[in-house]
Amino acid sequence: MKNIDAYTHLRGESIYLDDIPLIHGTLFGASFGSPVAHGIIRHLDISEAAALPGVVRIFTYKDITGENQIGGIVPDEPLIADHEVHFCGMPVAFVVADSVDAARAAVKKIKVTIDPLPVITDSREAQQLGELIIPPRTFQLGDTANSWQHCTHIFEGRADTNGQEHLYIETQGAYAVPQEHNAIKIYSSTQGPTAVQRAVSRVLGLPMHLVEVEVNRLGGGFGGKEDQANTWAALCALAAHHLKRPVKYSLHRMEDMAMTGKRHPYSADFKIGLNAELKIIAYEATFYQNAGAAADLSPAVMERTLFHCTNTYFIPNVKATAYSCRTHLPPNTAFRGFGGPQGMFMIESAIAKAAEALGVEAAVIQEKNLLQTGDEFPYGQIAQSEAPDCWHKATALYDVAAMRKEVNAFNAANKWHKKGLACMPICFGISFTKTLMNQARSLVHVYTDGSVGITTGAVEMGQGVNTKILQVAAQVFSIQPEKIRIHTTNTFKIANTSPSAASATADLNGKATLMACTAIVERLKKMVAEEMKVDAQSVTLQDEYVWVNKQKTDIDWKSLVMTGHIKRIGLSEHAHYATPEIHFDAAKEKGHPFAYHVYGTALVSVTVDCIRGTYTVDSVKVVHDFGASMNTAVDLGQIEGGIVQGIGWMTMEEVVYDANGRLRSNALSTYKVPDIYSVPKEIAIDFLQTPHDNLAIFRSKAVGEPPLMYGIGAYFALRNAVRAFNKTGQFAFDAPMTPEKVLMALYATQKEGIIESHEETTNHLAVDK
Ligand code: MTE
Ligand code: HPA
Ligand code: MOS
Repeated sequence: MKNIDAYTHLRGESIYLDDIPLIHGTLFGASFGSPVAHGIIRHLDISEAAALPGVVRIFTYKDITGENQIGGIVPDEPLIADHEVHFCGMPVAFVVADSVDAARAAVKKIKVTIDPLPVITDSREAQQLGELIIPPRTFQLGDTANSWQHCTHIFEGRADTNGQEHLYIETQGAYAVPQEHNAIKIYSSTQGPTAVQRAVSRVLGLPMHLVEVEVNRLGGGFGGKEDQANTWAALCALAAHHLKRPVKYSLHRMEDMAMTGKRHPYSADFKIGLNAELKIIAYEATFYQNAGAAADLSPAVMERTLFHCTNTYFIPNVKATAYSCRTHLPPNTAFRGFGGPQGMFMIESAIAKAAEALGVEAAVIQEKNLLQTGDEFPYGQIAQSEAPDCWHKATALYDVAAMRKEVNAFNAANKWHKKGLACMPICFGISFTKTLMNQARSLVHVYTDGSVGITTGAVEMGQGVNTKILQVAAQVFSIQPEKIRIHTTNTFKIANTSPSAASATADLNGKATLMACTAIVERLKKMVAEEMKVDAQSVTLQDEYVWVNKQKTDIDWKSLVMTGHIKRIGLSEHAHYATPEIHFDAAKEKGHPFAYHVYGTALVSVTVDCIRGTYTVDSVKVVHDFGASMNTAVDLGQIEGGIVQGIGWMTMEEVVYDANGRLRSNALSTYKVPDIYSVPKEIAIDFLQTPHDNLAIFRSKAVGEPPLMYGIGAYFALRNAVRAFNKTGQFAFDAPMTPEKVLMALYATQKEGIIESHEETTNHLAVDK
């Protein structure tokens, strides 16, 4: 089954927000963002801007007809700043003009006087000052305090991960079109049409049934449009509501980078204790999440950090505490992995620290502590673990012993290039951590010509969810994919949707589609059975024909459907699916929050140039637990993309804010993402079929986020390569491992962060020249 979007993508015919033909009279918006990260607005002067030709109106918070509030989890985020600004780029005014150029020219003429207030950009500093988004949370298993005495080895340390820009190819944007009776229709590049509907309804003071949100597809979201598409939709809707004219705003790349939040930077302190056999007996971690200036999704992201703080290991005594710290950066938000990767980086750092101190391979510790079926996660769920299978298959299939030998031989033979190898096992929980969000609906219409139209809450953003949903219907109806069309996602057709996120979109919307299609098929089968006076169970659909008692009849799909219509059988169905079995008690921090877990193991190898600090990722070899992949082409794409995005986060992508909270890495010249030259030379994926029953659609486990975390292996592979060159130097667990940091680490001394003058190198450089 090909990805159904391949044809229009390749021909440039796929329709994104900016491809929607404009309605006559459309106006264009542009946002004036705060030039200061924190301060009190003393004066806003829009007079010069308003007088420019083409400018229709400039909106401020005073124009808001409903509530000036877009905070989803915590009501702490005004749509437009009223008296105070909390981050650089926070919307202060919204210009609407008759052309994009006029709107942008006007933005440049707006003047604002702001009395600056102290700016915090560091999460630990915010925590010290008591600037927390929500109270801290602690997950606990066993008793760490009374475990240390049983440990032979105890190590403490600190680890840091930086943010990550989503860099969806399609920037944020919205197009709002006023309708009759004050209703409004919004085309939005959002992962969460219902989130946009709620935000607009709140800001305009309109009931939700007057707010229609429509999404055709996204040019990527990666979490960045789970909540943060709301702002642009609400601004356009506000203007359209007042002016009774369509208003569109599609952000420029630099605006998007400066004004939107990113992956949360984290800092953490850890303490790990092992016994003489290298079993991890106890693990403590304290996480400082840099939430930015408003809650956005940070509390949920923080929760997932705690869920994944032991990655794929069983540790009998765990205590993990997380702080969501309020700083003056743009509110950080969902990003593929949703806090999980940060939690996993910290435990991998703790294991690496122990391994380095004990002079063993990290893999020895990793392998000894892999989660087994029946083990308990710190949050109380009992594991159905594929971790040992993935690990053992990966090490055997790719012959890790031979790989290691090769690395060692290379390192012995080469002075100025070193190779590094790391194993990266992963475990990721599938389901929204908030139980109520695990529900979805599907609306299926079978038309009298036999064609089928399906609407769900799923948003197609490149991850192939529409292809999977189409496959579900094609299988249940047993008809050709060409007969089925997946329609746009629309809040007037499917209500109260969860965002397309948490890797759960195909499971949730696929299962609802399975239910809807099955209900229609059951009605048609019953009709045939009555007609032919046979048992309904003996009627099946196969290759577009009705079969009775395993005999093909001459009733084809189209005539079946037409007969159904003539006999007044319902050919449409709206089905509701809610994930069974899941629950979580936030008071006890225990429960069974995930429908299932996805496992896998990656072997990552790199080569470092020890003079320049540059490096290549030689290979990423993976055994991944798919359950039973329903579309290997789509799933392979997700794995490859996830790996490269994860490597980018861990190696070259460096978000830089200055002390005043201004984004310095604000364009692709200063923010480096992996390109075709920096992707791994080889990516090998083994599709491990795991036999156990699971709650995934057709047993095909969710694949959207988990592969990103294989990228963490690149960090540790680089670390190992550097340590092959510099055996005694100390350097921090501080991702991303940019070439600059690699170079510093190559020449670091035993005292962290100090560069040794390396005479040999100097000589060699001279020779090199
Ligand atoms: N793949 C593409 N091509 N584009 C995207 O925006 N988002 C990722 C992942 N893969 C994304 C993607 C994220 S963050 C999630 S949560 C899942 O897809 C969401 O889709 P799913 O639930 O259908 O896996
Ligand atoms: N994952 C992704 N998005 C979410 C989640 C989650 O667990 N919870 C709320 N939004
Ligand atoms: Mo993905 S971060 O759950 O949109």
